[in-house]
Amino acid sequence: MSREIADHLRYYADLGVTGLSRDPNWRVRAAASPATDAISEPGSLGTPGTLEDIKTEIGPACMRCKLCTLGRTQIVFGTGNPKARLMLVGEAPGEEEDERGEPFVGRSGQLLTKIIEAIGLSREQVYIANVIKCRPPDNRNPEPDEVAACEPYLFRQIDVINPMVIVPLGKFATQCLLKTTDPITRLRGRRFDYRGTTLIPTFHPAYLLRNPSAKREVWDDMKLVRAILQGDA
Ligand code: URA
Repeated sequence: MSREIADHLRYYADLGVTGLSRDPNWRVRAAASPATDAISEPGSLGTPGTLEDIKTEIGPACMRCKLCTLGRTQIVFGTGNPKARLMLVGEAPGEEEDERGEPFVGRSGQLLTKIIEAIGLSREQVYIANVIKCRPPDNRNPEPDEVAACEPYLFRQIDVINPMVIVPLGKFATQCLLKTTDPITRLRGRRFDYRGTTLIPTFHPAYLLRNPSAKREVWDDMKLVRAILQGDA
């Protein structure tokens, strides 16, 4: 049996395929795109590995999309507890995150830290990552090719951490994870089953800085997160 598997893998290697995706959706995408696109997307064979494995695979000088030529300083992989029960997912690094190599360390990040602490957790207890690991120039929205190149690494981070609850912050992260174009106003306030976890979308902290009255809804969302983590919901 192991010989057959080895032969099979050698066959794929001969085709130039370096990894097979663990993303359950890849077959759907494979049906819509050339086979080699689907099977050569970043991914690993076998177990999900560790966060360090994923970081090493991305490498310090990733060139999988054009953001590497558009002024990013470094890759902002993610931070926190690799065994976190709560994972928060933002859009992409901003200027300060790009300088420091850590997600959510600017003004939005300070507010996010308060939001996390409001439910009795610390930044060190949760895991924080972005869909896009490199800063888009002038904080523009990430483009579809950039998302396509980077999102497989987020999916693998999710699979390795295997959190109980994922909170995507804002429209971009929520739409990316749920593969929907529904507006965030329709998506927040609801809970979704997602890759074996519960997903609770909420507003992005940057939106809250501009619209402080929306903090009430975020607090409602975070109370639900806390209840789920405590086994009460
Ligand atoms: N906004 C994000 O979405 N992510 C960060 O890391 C910082 C700001």
